Amino acid sequence: MHSPRLPRIGTYSAWRDTARQLAMAGVPAHQVDWGLSDNPKSMFDRPLPSEQGQITVPASFADLTRSLIPERNGRGMTLAYTLLTRLQDTSGLLSNRADPHVAEARDIAKSVHRDLHKMHAFVRFREATPQHSQASQRRTFVSWFEPDHRIEEPVADFFVNRFGDMDWKIITPEVTVTYLDRSLTLKAVASSRPDLDDPLEQLWGTYYASIFNPARLKPNAMRAEMPRKYWKNLPEARLIPGLIAGARARTTAMQDANATTPSLHLARRVDQTPRRTPEAIVQTDLTRLSSGLSTCTRCPLHGPATQAVRGEGPTDAPLMIVGELPGDQEDISGRPFVGPAGQLFDRIAQQAGLNRKAAYVTNAVKHFKFIQRGKRRIHDRPAISEVDACRWWLERELLTVNPDLVLAMGAIALHALTGDGSRVLKRRGGTERTRDGRPLLVTLHPSCLLRLPESQARDRATEDFRNDLVHAVEMLRVRAG
Ligand code: URA
Repeated sequence: MHSPRLPRIGTYSAWRDTARQLAMAGVPAHQVDWGLSDNPKSMFDRPLPSEQGQITVPASFADLTRSLIPERNGRGMTLAYTLLTRLQDTSGLLSNRADPHVAEARDIAKSVHRDLHKMHAFVRFREATPQHSQASQRRTFVSWFEPDHRIEEPVADFFVNRFGDMDWKIITPEVTVTYLDRSLTLKAVASSRPDLDDPLEQLWGTYYASIFNPARLKPNAMRAEMPRKYWKNLPEARLIPGLIAGARARTTAMQDANATTPSLHLARRVDQTPRRTPEAIVQTDLTRLSSGLSTCTRCPLHGPATQAVRGEGPTDAPLMIVGELPGDQEDISGRPFVGPAGQLFDRIAQQAGLNRKAAYVTNAVKHFKFIQRGKRRIHDRPAISEVDACRWWLERELLTVNPDLVLAMGAIALHALTGDGSRVLKRRGGTERTRDGRPLLVTLHPSCLLRLPESQARDRATEDFRNDLVHAVEMLRVRAG
């Protein structure tokens, strides 16, 4: 039996390196007892068999294991290694949802994703009192959170992206995550809930109570979305029982009260407004967004372009595909990805089993940028300042569509979505997070394929691109459960 003991910080990469060595040495899953240790230096308690082999896994395996390793009881690590060994004989294993190991892995991945989502939503920072704060010029905040799984590492980038302009600590019972002067450190230290008090909390409570609408109260939905175990660390939760208890009386009072007469102007508008379904509300948000977009002057590109090209696709699409900027044909038609790059994308997407119509397709930059040469308009690369100016629209599209996965095609999209558009060739095929913490898959822009002069290189690059799209489809399947 091998008993690798992994560190609490850096668990995923330690698991990956150890699993690779064990699998190459042909060690079966039942001979490995995975665990964590404060003193992880001895990975193996006895030497590995010397025979070395090759191991191969599909790209989606890395994404799945990232969600399995943080599982609290260690079952995720065991299962990930079981899948790794089985994948050596059964290459399509991960697509077989009926397989008990695959099914269990998907359940665990779902539970870890849910925990990540809850931590994104329910971490509440309090401004640190001087004894908590460091000798830094920036304001310092502290938060306490008790995750179900060991997710402090995978979740950290989300908070760096969201709260990069302040110093903060997130303390959990096992790990302290510190962001100080733009540098992130994680330390495995046992902690108990610090005494957190914040003068702003009372203000937040007053605000929360004032936006609480008793007529729309759905306690069951509320408890499902915000389970009770999180309440003790949410300042607003102290108010909830009282607000629920008073809701009926407040609703009755609202019903009994005389209706206030709307102004003539408002009454006319209300009369003309059709009743809207939730889908229509989202649709309207996008419609409103695109009508704002059509008059956007945030950067100089609006001048020469024919029109802003808005995103298109279902408003609740699970996948958002982000390209760079419209080309000549997109500028004329007002629709994204209809020119040569779009047509190539459509062909490869179809081969990869990706239905473009089910995705929301948009661009990082909404106006065509070009250099006029005679009658021809030659595509020009947007400046970073133009990409940053246009990000305002992309972020609103992300909030409105709320996709499960974002596909970044090319450096411009990658910059807009992550803040770093470098090394696309190295990063392609990998999964990362958007600035606001959404899963993101990196790939090349399809126009790169059109530019490759040599047919062998083009075939290879096309194959890689197709594999990235297959990966996207598989990731969405895992997330959909
Ligand atoms: N290239 C892009 O990035 N977007 C389009 O809409 C067309 C070409």
